[in-house]
Amino acid sequence: MTKDNKMDKVVALCKRRGFVFQGSDIYGGLKGTWDLGPLGVALNNNIKREWWKFFVEDREDMYGLDAAILMNSKTWEASGHTGAGFCDPLVEDTITGERFRADHLLKDGGFEAEGLTLEQIDQMIISVGLMSPNGNPLSKARQFNMMFETRIGATSGPEGLVFLRPETAQGIFVNFKNVVDSMSPKIPFGIAQIGKAFRNEIAPREFLFRVREFEQMEIEYFIKEEQWESEFEKLRQDIVGWHNHLGLSSENIKEYEVPENDLAHYSKRTIDFEYNFPGKGFDELAGFAYRTNHDLKSHMEASGKSMEYIEPDGSRFIPHVLEPSFGVGRALTAVLCEACSEDEMNGEVRTYLRLPAHLAPYRAAVSPLLKNKPELVGKAREVFMMLKKKFGNIAWDDNGNIGKRYRRQDEIGTPHCVTIDFETLGEEKTELKDTVTVRDRDTGVQERVAISELVAYLNK
Ligand code: GAP
Repeated sequence: MTKDNKMDKVVALCKRRGFVFQGSDIYGGLKGTWDLGPLGVALNNNIKREWWKFFVEDREDMYGLDAAILMNSKTWEASGHTGAGFCDPLVEDTITGERFRADHLLKDGGFEAEGLTLEQIDQMIISVGLMSPNGNPLSKARQFNMMFETRIGATSGPEGLVFLRPETAQGIFVNFKNVVDSMSPKIPFGIAQIGKAFRNEIAPREFLFRVREFEQMEIEYFIKEEQWESEFEKLRQDIVGWHNHLGLSSENIKEYEVPENDLAHYSKRTIDFEYNFPGKGFDELAGFAYRTNHDLKSHMEASGKSMEYIEPDGSRFIPHVLEPSFGVGRALTAVLCEACSEDEMNGEVRTYLRLPAHLAPYRAAVSPLLKNKPELVGKAREVFMMLKKKFGNIAWDDNGNIGKRYRRQDEIGTPHCVTIDFETLGEEKTELKDTVTVRDRDTGVQERVAISELVAYLNK
């Protein structure tokens, strides 16, 4: 499998096996939206559950939050999202009216356009003679705000205008005081949130990479200013550990230190964690920024409410913040790309997903050797129910012959297949009674395991 066709294989597998479908598929789709199928939602939930455990439950310094998607519009004025800070440069094909992101068009043409002003973009388009992908002249660049607008209540005036949140982070900042007052956390501490975010991307593209509706997993980690360098390094290492926990190999992850001239004006340091997406190369998987105390200060000024943290000795200050921010869809894509493998087994080429057991949609699949033998089916149902009670995500698979079942489960990343055969019933060798065959996805090796040992075996 070449790097270029690996992504195509992953996308095709996602559709064929029920991981990811085009949004509103039967109506021809809706650009920038994707729906998770039964296996996709299982993988996605596993990623989010593991993240919550890794960054919240396993630590003493993190607090969870689930803020509303719709927020008072003053939030977005204070955060700067209604202004130029949350705009992308847009150009139009002057003949067809089709819209493009100017910096992406320039980048696709081999020109570096990051951080350019609109005037600089216009100059560059003219000097390199850039045309639209349809071969037509391009309009001048203008700023396009990416927030989706909607209206709240029965009013039609400007007072009813609200936005779908473009990041979960602001829900954390506006609840900073609530969490401090209700939980009395000791600084440094973090507030974590997982939830949907919406951006009206000019050009959604590359599968789940750039979409208009997506999920984020974000932490705002509140610190004293003088702690920032040491806490930054600790959290950076935690992020490295998280990507390792997702099974992403270190050679496929790169840390991109955002140069000073590209940093947001309030950021003192930002690292993009990039993944080597097949056919695309290294691009942003997650971001990690030191945002000073810009956000809390802005909300304090705009709301008139104190965002100060008060120490036991009575001293007060506005905490500074470190922000690790992860996109769930990009993590899911990276996990699938990393796991998608090809080898030769029993003289046949097979495509399979080497998913870590804690992420796989199904922990194991249970099958009766033959589906027309009631005694095998009865015993297999018993084993299935026992495992299902323990793990939840156990598949029942009695379709086709055993080889086909293995292939099907390999393709969706099920780590183990458990088969109940005549030996389980003790009909041939009594010493094998109440044992089953467990087959390993990656090696194809089969072992005989006692039913009473099965849970411990799968938990290994
Ligand atoms: N609160 C900071 C923040 O939102 P960001 O770099 O704009 O920072 C964080 O977004 C992460 O969210 C990205 O690293 C990416 O994983 C994900 N993300 C952002 N925009 C996205 C989009 N249009 N489609 C899919 N994922 C996106």
